[in-house]
Formats: sequence, structure tokens, C-alpha cells
Amino acid sequence: MKIESRLAQIGSIEEPVTGAVSFPVYQATAFRHPKLGQSTGFDYARTKSPTRKVLEDAIAGLESGDAGFACSSGMAALQTIFAYFSQGDHLIVSLDLYGGTYRLLERIMSRFGVTATYVDTNDLDALEGAYQANTKGLVIETPTNPLMMITDLELVCTWARKKGIVSIVDNTLLTPYLQRPIELGADIVIHSATKYLGGHNDVLAGLIVTKGKELSEQMAILHNSIGAVLGPQDSWLLMRGMKTLALRMERHEQNATAIANFLLEHPLISNVYYPALESHPGHAIQNKQSSGNTGIFSFKVNDARLVEPILRHIKLIAFAESLGGVESLMTYPAVQTHADIPLEIRQQIGVDDRLLRFSVGIEHVDDIIGDLSNALQAAQAELEGASQS
Ligand SMILES: Cc1ncc(COP(=O)(O)O)c(C=O)c1O
Repeated sequence: MKIESRLAQIGSIEEPVTGAVSFPVYQATAFRHPKLGQSTGFDYARTKSPTRKVLEDAIAGLESGDAGFACSSGMAALQTIFAYFSQGDHLIVSLDLYGGTYRLLERIMSRFGVTATYVDTNDLDALEGAYQANTKGLVIETPTNPLMMITDLELVCTWARKKGIVSIVDNTLLTPYLQRPIELGADIVIHSATKYLGGHNDVLAGLIVTKGKELSEQMAILHNSIGAVLGPQDSWLLMRGMKTLALRMERHEQNATAIANFLLEHPLISNVYYPALESHPGHAIQNKQSSGNTGIFSFKVNDARLVEPILRHIKLIAFAESLGGVESLMTYPAVQTHADIPLEIRQQIGVDDRLLRFSVGIEHVDDIIGDLSNALQAAQAELEGASQS
């Protein structure tokens, strides 16, 4: 079955008693045992829960993996994955990445003796240079958040396999509708399902998909032992969002492409970072390994003083700290999502005070461009007024 159909049908055939096409919310933590030594397959909700299981099976199938695990947030999913590693292990991690992942590695995992080196994961020489005898994992975001750097997954996951290290791909920005890292050689996929999978800015969730028996068994132990699992209501809400993923991603991409092209021509904008643009350095790799583009991109204004008035003047577009929902949101990474990344690293990669991240929603493109255009114009007028006075 095609992925659009599989998405729309999540949970629709699993309920054998009533035939409910929307899988019910099983709000139970304990499950009656038929007799000693027997189980219905469900014992205690942290280990396995019916509504969560439908979601977990769905994401495992969509990502072409063997097992799925639903967590209480994307960070909970990352923590569960990082707990696979032991004291003394070393990870190679994308240089540009979500600030919370960096914070988890540097503030928490480092205290447990797991260290990380940050490199451009598309650069095989940099990967070789970062590799150590104790390197056990490779953590890739592609596209990265917020600079949209692209990694050739097939190339790099093959490199990791040869070295015997586990490759972990954060697929939050593209979702399995557009990119399936396990098919390209990754061992583990992680999602902040809070973003495109949920899609409506109303559920916080994380998903993990593993490939292979050993990893899947280990992840089941970690998921159950750490216990940062997703509740039944949120599992249901997430599945409901995922049913429309294909339609939403198509509109997100259409809108984002039109707006990125609008900004490319705008005199107040100096850079647009969006892999759908031919000028983007990762454009060809992105086209090779995915069937489309995400709805988020970043851009730089040519004067940092424009940022504050732009964020004040946008009306339809919300100044808010997330991405991937139907509503357009704009974020200022340097002070919001990426504030925990040290200034020198941010400066090295270009997450500076002129960079704005735009999660383009599914509103009519003319309305979004109109709002942005007005805000840019108003910001420029304020700046000119200030320099004249
Ligand atoms: C790429 C990426 N990974 C992981 C996370 C963390 O997910 P959550 O906010 O659901 O904990 C985020 C959050 O913004 C993200 O953008």
C-alpha cells in the first residue's frame, strides 16, 4: 500500500470488538491476567499499552524499521536512545543541530561519561578525523535545525556500518512521508513528533524506530526502564494528526518554496537556507534521498536591528518556539531554540543575531507573504526613522 493510504488508515482496522475506525483510547494502566503464567499481551501500561502500541507499530512500518517506541517528548526519545551508550563511549554528532540535543549531551550525558564531537556529518574527512577507538554512535540531523545542512545518508551510514558504530538519524524535519533513513542504512530514527507528525501544535511526543533484533530488544528495555513513555490520550492525538501528514507536508512544501523564493528576491534579506532552492549546497543530495522538502527554512536579514520589529509586526505568523504545525511560526534561534549552544559554535556555523527560522504553515500562501511583506516594510520604516532622528 502507498504511504498516503497507510497514513490515512492508521488504527482503522486494529479494533476487533466494535470495528471502530478510530482506535480507542485505552485509559488503563493495569491489565487482568487470564490466569497465572498467562497474559493478554498487556501487563502494565509503562511496558506496553494498547493505544500506544498501534502508534508504535504504525511508525515502525512507516520508517521501514522493526520496532517503534513512543515517548513523552522528542527529548525523552533522545534520552532513551543515548542511554544505550555507556560510560567511556564517544559519539560523533552533527555540528548544526537542535539546541536541546546539544544541551542533553553536554550538560547531562557528559556527566555519565558519554562524550561527543561535533562535525559537519556530510564531510567524510571530518568524520574520519573525529573517529576514536571508543566511538560508538553517529547522530545526524538532515536537514539540520536551523541551518538546513544536508548529509548524504547512504554514504555516511555505510561509513558508520564499516566502523561498527550505530547511526542515529533525527528525521523530525522531513518525516517518513518524505525521507526514510533506515532504507538508506540508518540503525535508529528519532522524531520530535511534536512537530510535523502531530502537526497541530497540540501534542508533545517523541518517537523512536529501531532496525534489527539486538537494537530493538535493547531499546524496549531502555524504554520500559526509563519510563518516559507517551500516554494513551496523546498517542491517540498523535495518530489523528498523522493521518493527514501527506496532505499537510505537500502544502507546507508548496508554501515554503514560494515564500523562500519571495525572500530570495527581497532587498532586506541576505541569505535563505532552504534545500529546495537550487542554490542550496545540499540540493542535489536532498533530491536524491528524499521525495520532497520540509516546510521550514531559515533566512538572514541584512541588519540585526530588523529582527525585533519584524517579530513585533508579524500578525498572522506567530512569534513562537516550535515548528511543523499547520500554523506559521517564526523563531529567533540565537535567543530561543539554540541559546544553549555556546556563542563560538553558533558563530562558527552561522546561527547569529541576523538569523530567523520560519516554520511555514498551511494557510493561503498570499496571506503569509502579505503578512511577512508588511512586517519587513514596517521594520525597515522604523529603522530608517531611527537613523534619521
Ligand atoms: C530536530 C529536533 N529534534 C528534537 C527536538 C526535541 O523534541 P521535543 O521538543 O518534542 O522534546 C526538537 C525540538 O524542537 C527538534 O527540533
